[in-house]
Amino acid sequence: MRYPDEVVEEVRSRNDIVDIISGYVKLQKKGGNYFGLCPFHNEKSPSFSVSGSKQMYYCFGCGAGGNVITFLMEYENYTFPEALKVLADRCGVKLPDTEYSREEKERADRRSLLLEINKAAANYFYYQLRSPQGDMGYRYLKNRALTDETIRRFGLGYAGKNGGELYRYLKSKGYSDNVLKDSGLVTIEEKGTRDKFWNRVMFPIMDTNNRVIGFGGRVMGDAKPKYLNSPETMIFDKSRNLYGLNYAKSSREKYMLICEGYMDVIAMQQAGFVNAVASLGTAFTGQQAALLKRYTEQVVLTYDSDGAGVKAALRAIPILKEAGISARVLDMKPYKDPDEFIKNMGADAFRERIARAKNSFLFEIDTIKKEYDLGDPEQKTRFYHAVASKLLEFPETLERDNYIQAVSREHGIPYEELKRLVNRLGNQVGGRISVRTETREDQQTPAKKKRNPEDGIRRSQRLLLTWLIERPELFDPLRGIIGPDDFNEELYHKVAEMLFAQWENGEVNPAEILNHFINDDEQYKEAAALFHADLKGNLSREEQNKAFSETVYRVKKNSVDRMSRNASTIEEMQQMIREQAALKKLRGIRFTD
Ligand code: CTP
Ligand code: MN
Repeated sequence: MRYPDEVVEEVRSRNDIVDIISGYVKLQKKGGNYFGLCPFHNEKSPSFSVSGSKQMYYCFGCGAGGNVITFLMEYENYTFPEALKVLADRCGVKLPDTEYSREEKERADRRSLLLEINKAAANYFYYQLRSPQGDMGYRYLKNRALTDETIRRFGLGYAGKNGGELYRYLKSKGYSDNVLKDSGLVTIEEKGTRDKFWNRVMFPIMDTNNRVIGFGGRVMGDAKPKYLNSPETMIFDKSRNLYGLNYAKSSREKYMLICEGYMDVIAMQQAGFVNAVASLGTAFTGQQAALLKRYTEQVVLTYDSDGAGVKAALRAIPILKEAGISARVLDMKPYKDPDEFIKNMGADAFRERIARAKNSFLFEIDTIKKEYDLGDPEQKTRFYHAVASKLLEFPETLERDNYIQAVSREHGIPYEELKRLVNRLGNQVGGRISVRTETREDQQTPAKKKRNPEDGIRRSQRLLLTWLIERPELFDPLRGIIGPDDFNEELYHKVAEMLFAQWENGEVNPAEILNHFINDDEQYKEAAALFHADLKGNLSREEQNKAFSETVYRVKKNSVDRMSRNASTIEEMQQMIREQAALKKLRGIRFTD
């Protein structure tokens, strides 16, 4: 189903964002904008801003942002059509009859049916736990030191002994075999129908909107498998969800705690660490990292202290880093997992361990160290080499130096020697790179990984777009110098195309641009963030001008470099030479006064 762009834009522009948001959040005018307490995370001082001129909101604390439509989607948990309908009714626009393709409609219906069934099942399990049949389950949970309040909060339940009760219950509510099969809660086969879960305590798994999307069930003794989970369904994708995030997302801490299991999350949250989530038996994934990144930039890994837990941590660290999240690793010893630790040592001791959690890089070095017998001179040398080449992961010399200091202190390696070794290895690596690749950038920063200059380029492109949105008067001096094609990052290119077109038509309208990204959660968040960077910081006017022309130069330079790598025809070569000449002149040019 798709509404025409004009209709969406009409509905959006007829609903003033300050009006709408004022109905939910107490706003105060400050300068050209309004500020209030962010409704999407807990905070004590207002970092949630609403701009009447841009018709957008943005939270400098949690990064939530968007236009009036996405606000309702996030706040009321509406789908896009639902939000649009509410806003259309409010301003008296009649929406055209929706044309769901049949397939789309069927999928949407089926998904909401599955959500309904999961919710019904969660209720069923929950009441079973409170009934005489569920006594065993209830006692099991109490034995594991859970309070009634915790049991309620996590909606814990019990699946009965004879293995067909849930099926009968759901049938009595009118659900067909066909859809029940898709729910993963029952197996329907020729030889009969069985509940997937029986004689287990049940942990409903909720998404960030508190909807039940699947279950984990634990046996109450030592039988195997210890935990049984819902299979992947239309609404349950394990690799995209984190257990406990529905609560953890509104914790006030700057960091999140990541652990392995249901009981760990529950024990931590019960002990007051509401910021605990679990990746649920699967290895931590990039999608989970991206999900977390919406709420935090720091995590503390509290995986089990056994070999598997260490391995899981080592795997998660680079995935988190890639997503822009820094990690520390908590030492759980002598206990196995957070649940056991807290039961034995209490919350204060756990809090202390969090404070002492180890920087992930230093943790990695510790595990590397275990592979060498340092009593043997040859192995010791090899350990030093391994350390030095690991240190080359840091592209920035200052940061690298901080780590060289830390490592030398911690492992008693003479600082100067270690530094020399790092530089020597760096030069060797650099030598190899310069033979292979063509760009000058790579030669200048030999130890840099490929992806790091990319980050810088993305940053410049992002920054330039933000500048243009903040100060549209800058479009004019850029005419003929920079255009949409200078933005190669897909999202930025799309935004730039629309933005430049709007400028040509005489009006920059960021909220309209956002309409085009509403159906992609990740993209609209990133696009919304573009429109709200706090550029000015503490820069003087002079420094701002400098920063701006530097950004323009970087974006253009990257674009020309790209062109020169790809130029193949004579025309392209000539064009490139012209651009390179123009680029030289661009250095240090002043765009504003
Ligand atoms: N897990 C699973 N299937 C299993 C074992 C484990 O899905 N057969 C997942 C569960 O999400 C579990 C997590 O891995 O919570 C951690 O497993 P484990 O450390 O074995 O269990 P604990 O969380 O310590 O469980 P408990 O304290 O209940 O023994
Ligand atoms: Mn455990």
